[in-house]
Amino acid sequence: MVSKHDPVSKKIRHFSVTACLVPICSLYGAAVTTVEGVGSIKTRLHPVQERIAKSHGTQCGFCTPGMVMSLYTLLRNHLQPSEEQLMEALGGNLCRCTGYRPILESGKTFCVGSNGCQQKGTGKCCMDQRENLSSSLDRKSDICTELFAKEEFQPLDPTQELIFPPELLRMAENPEKRTLIFYGERVTWISPGTLQDLLELKAKYPEAPLILGNTSLGPAMKAQGRSYPILLSPARISELSVVMKTSDGLTIGAACSLAQVKDFLTESISELPEEKTQTYQALLKHLRSLAGQQIRNMASLGGHIISRHCYSDLNPVLAVGNATLNLRSEEGTRQIPLNEQFLAGLASADLKPEEILESVYIPHSQKWEFVSAFRQAQCPQNALPDINAGMRVLFKEGTDIIEDLSIAYGGVGTATVSAHKSCQQLLGRRWNELMLDEACRLVLDEVSLPGSAPGGKVEFKRTLVVSFLFKFYLKVLQELKMLVRLFSMPRVDSHQPLQDPVGRPIMHLSGLKHATGEAIFCDDIPRVDKELFMALVTSTRAHAKIISIDFSEALELPEVVDVITVEDIPGTNGTEDDKLLAVDEVLCVGQVICAVVAETDVQAKRAIEKIKITYEDLEPIIFTVEDAIKHNSFLCPEKKLEQGNIKEAFEKVDQIVEGEVHIGGQEHFYMETQRVLVIPKTEDKELDIYVSTQDPAHVQKTVSSTLNIPINRITCHVKRVGGGFGGKVGRPSVFGAIAAVGAVKTGHPIRLVLDREDDMLITGGRHPLFGKYKVGFMNNGRIKALDIECYVNGGCMLDDSELVTEFLILKLENAYKIHNLRFRGRACKTNLPSNTAFRGFGFPQGTLVTESCITAVAAKCGLPPEKIREKNMYKTFDKTIYKQAFSPETLIRCWNECLEKSSFHSRRRQVEEFNKKNYWKKKGIAIIPMKFSVGFAATSYHQAAALVHIYTDGSVLVTHGGNELGQGIHTKMLQVASRELKVPMSYLHICETSTATVPNTIATAASIGADVNGRAVQNACQILLKRLEPNIKKNPEGTWEDWIEAAFEQRISLSATGYFRGYKAFMDWEKGEGDPFPYYVYGVACSEVEIDCLTGAHKIEGAFIQGMGLYTTEELQYSPEGVLYSRSSDEYKIPTITDIPEEFNVSLLPSSQTPLTIYSSKGLGESGMFLGSSVFFAIADAVAAARRERDAAEDFTVKSPATPEQVRMACADRFTEMVWNYSLFSSKVIFLFPASWTY
Ligand SMILES: Cc1cc2nc3c(=O)[nH]c(=O)nc-3n(C[C@H](O)[C@H](O)[C@H](O)COP(=O)(O)OP(=O)(O)OC[C@H]3O[C@@H](n4cnc5c(N)ncnc54)[C@H](O)[C@@H]3O)c2cc1C
Ligand code: FES
Repeated sequence: MVSKHDPVSKKIRHFSVTACLVPICSLYGAAVTTVEGVGSIKTRLHPVQERIAKSHGTQCGFCTPGMVMSLYTLLRNHLQPSEEQLMEALGGNLCRCTGYRPILESGKTFCVGSNGCQQKGTGKCCMDQRENLSSSLDRKSDICTELFAKEEFQPLDPTQELIFPPELLRMAENPEKRTLIFYGERVTWISPGTLQDLLELKAKYPEAPLILGNTSLGPAMKAQGRSYPILLSPARISELSVVMKTSDGLTIGAACSLAQVKDFLTESISELPEEKTQTYQALLKHLRSLAGQQIRNMASLGGHIISRHCYSDLNPVLAVGNATLNLRSEEGTRQIPLNEQFLAGLASADLKPEEILESVYIPHSQKWEFVSAFRQAQCPQNALPDINAGMRVLFKEGTDIIEDLSIAYGGVGTATVSAHKSCQQLLGRRWNELMLDEACRLVLDEVSLPGSAPGGKVEFKRTLVVSFLFKFYLKVLQELKMLVRLFSMPRVDSHQPLQDPVGRPIMHLSGLKHATGEAIFCDDIPRVDKELFMALVTSTRAHAKIISIDFSEALELPEVVDVITVEDIPGTNGTEDDKLLAVDEVLCVGQVICAVVAETDVQAKRAIEKIKITYEDLEPIIFTVEDAIKHNSFLCPEKKLEQGNIKEAFEKVDQIVEGEVHIGGQEHFYMETQRVLVIPKTEDKELDIYVSTQDPAHVQKTVSSTLNIPINRITCHVKRVGGGFGGKVGRPSVFGAIAAVGAVKTGHPIRLVLDREDDMLITGGRHPLFGKYKVGFMNNGRIKALDIECYVNGGCMLDDSELVTEFLILKLENAYKIHNLRFRGRACKTNLPSNTAFRGFGFPQGTLVTESCITAVAAKCGLPPEKIREKNMYKTFDKTIYKQAFSPETLIRCWNECLEKSSFHSRRRQVEEFNKKNYWKKKGIAIIPMKFSVGFAATSYHQAAALVHIYTDGSVLVTHGGNELGQGIHTKMLQVASRELKVPMSYLHICETSTATVPNTIATAASIGADVNGRAVQNACQILLKRLEPNIKKNPEGTWEDWIEAAFEQRISLSATGYFRGYKAFMDWEKGEGDPFPYYVYGVACSEVEIDCLTGAHKIEGAFIQGMGLYTTEELQYSPEGVLYSRSSDEYKIPTITDIPEEFNVSLLPSSQTPLTIYSSKGLGESGMFLGSSVFFAIADAVAAARRERDAAEDFTVKSPATPEQVRMACADRFTEMVWNYSLFSSKVIFLFPASWTY
């Protein structure tokens, strides 16, 4: 949080910022508060920190400090914020673990009228109902009825907050007029104290940019390597922050932040009659969705306008709203219009080099004038728009005759473009359908989108160009109260399903430390003596021979110590299939070739740019599954399972459908990127490795073989991991081993921390999948034969691709009993970074194919998909396709309970009613069952060990083989130990996971971490308790401390190893049978969505968040050369707080335990992911409704993620057809609109 004295309002302004974009010099005169300054577990926790932790708003905790600071800043400005302000404050923060709901719940405890319960506004708690329903007396005590106990919370006391430093206040009240100059190595920062000095400096250094928010300059400097030797900071010039209200408009200083602009506009809107505020309302609409709060706090109006980004959300509205720019130079002042010529950067319409923008004048709108803003992005917030628009129409008074019309689009060319000619031709026309028809054709003609338009998506954008126009047409029509009747949406069913949290919600052990910033992640370990930094050199070619590597220039740079190459590896360079460093040949862009070691991270990164690698391109270059099939390029043999006789079955069915399903990959996007610190010790080749991994034993083993030293010399430590999701199972060993080679060669500790771009470039993610199905069924929906063939894109190395393919095939049948089945799967070898383990391990992709078959069968039978699902589901005790016996009883209970709790049937009726009444908005609903097998299909993975020490003061140290990834495994292990030893949790502690205390661990993955490690901890505790029993019996009134003391006196060992020899899993692929999984978890999810058929935007009402991201927004994009484009949160969209369901109910079936787990543990880590697909199928349901109404075929190709682009284009209508025809013939197309459209 930055706090500054505002020279105009004379108040202190507190605002949250994105720290990495804040130039340190811009903080002159400002106070900075970080999470450490807000509160501490050592002194006093701030209520924000306490509540986020106690509300279970932290898992891995990596995002928590950011969340705390956003909330804290909100509370510094609004003691009792509204829920809307809360959402806005958190809109710019990302979390990959929690799904946001608990974070939001903690924030709501500060809001006006919050009761901390899901049933907002009813004054009751949903849990009360549960208690009333329960006849069992002990249920109340078993199940905690609240997520958190509000009474425990400290009150928020504003008198306890840090004050703005008096010294800074004095400085602000008597501002220094002197020009301040900060000299850096490459940049000089000049901050004049007066406007006159600024103008003189601008005349002297016309090339020097003015730096305000740095949100445009900063990213350009980083991404495009632009550098500016001189930067002029106008932050101290109060004239640039002035706001003036006049009778005809508003003048806003260029230095005002977008957040301030939002406040000014809101204020003006509340003061002025509505007709005068049309432009302000349109700007406000975009200001709510432009970036996140932190960026809006930093970005200035002037910087926004002058940057003239083609995607600018404000410029199209300012342009149609006739805004004027007030410029100033030493010569004086002048005004220029913010019009198309200015936006295109024409010299005659632009600022002169010595001029600056002082302020912007935005006129009021007038009676009979309407202004609207439109925007479509991959997500509602925190995403640059694909396309946006500003539109304004002025009618001749009292008529519907167009007197003036302006339309401007962003995202369609290199600058904001105006449809000026079209608008001119429409002057004098009446606002009716004929005009709209003509307008669509004219605009499509004028706003031409070349195939090379920024961001691609050309057909989608063309469709939106006319869809926005149509939306404007309807909106204005409504305003004119002429043709269109306003349709009020039916309210959602008020019935709320019950909520039933499992067990006791114990706060995450590190929750408070996450919230105060005191939790230590790998890179928080302070610099150790003589430490060096490593940066990786990666391939820029997808498939090429390495001809030469020249690092002489890199070695000449100051502070550069060495370059680590394959020659420096004393042992093995990975495996034949998975090399640590590329040798002679590279197989993908992003493959690691060598590494630079330098004294600072900045120098190491600079040095890698100086390394010259010459390549000779090799053929073939394969990126897609389709190409791999063509070239017969596979990583491993086909995996196949078969039952019954599908050939015969296909001959006897009523109908057969064949189809294809495409599912895109997914980036793990763990908040903490890959990182490792290797410390070589002075003796016996020992190494200490601190690493962010799900599998320290694998890192240890790989380092051992790479360095050719025994495993016992290497100790890997994992304190906590900032999210893994499978991405930290295999890859950390590669980074650990390369860093270890550097450490051994240089004799220095080596720190290797990937930035987000490199992490996304180098490490693969979830396997994209291409599936083909053929399904034979009877007219009543009973499926008799199913043949599925799946191809996953494994990337260039084997990694886990064979295992993923096996899991995919084993789990493909999901919840259905189909007698004649054939499943085949192959992992394709392509020239992309190797894909790897990811939550669900193939299940979320494969099962989408199965469920798509169901949807296709439903469409052909004319039945709702849920009927087909029910008909084909397992009904009785049975065997799976691989002949493992199981009972579907729990599955059926889940299905029935979900139908009932979601009021599915009445919702289905409401959805149909809604769809009948709405042409441009459609709702969809889907209910999806899930049978998910937990665990690994290999026996050696089903084991775990633990080490429990009791010290003489009675305190207990627990160590086990699981890693804390945010799932709270340490908390769960202490719950186990606490129950077994019968001591409170405060007696227990877990320090870290270390290969020295518990050896030969298995990866914390496959949803069984708590199951197996819990049993090992239980075993160790039971051994210890048995040893203590004689003493307890002898002195039953004694305390724990008495028994421990006596045991020590009697030489009884107070340390025990626990071991769990788990499930014997096997799978015979030759015979196609086995017992690969210890147990199943079942789930059913129901989701309801609403889509906007004109833009493709969807509003989600129920799903699990990461799965929802996979199936709806997260899209990896590559260049034709195989370079990953989507390498940051700018291009790759994980769900944000604004994407979470409006209503999200989760319930767990009580008494559905299996003897193979411990207490109430359930392998839920991965399975929830797939349930997010119910959102996808609900979207498909809505699209199908739209297509039915438009007489388009219902069996459209299924493509995941169902991004707004996919959805819009699938809702085929006259606009998509128009664009299509336009592209085909580039000639005039006439179409007619039905008379009864409602919107
Ligand atoms: C994460 C992120 C998300 C974003 N999302 C969106 C979005 O959704 N929609 C959208 O429209 N935009 C978005 N933006 C862009 C953002 O709106 C602009 O970067 C911002 O408004 C620029 O303002 P600034 O003060 O940071 O400019 P700076 O980076 O400080 O300066 C930008 C340019 O403006 C010039 N300049 C600044 N002030 C003056 C002046 N008074 N006179 C003359 N020249 C001047 C500078 O010389 C410089 O060339 C996003 C940016 C980021 C970083
Ligand atoms: S708790 Fe939010 S990213 Fe892990």
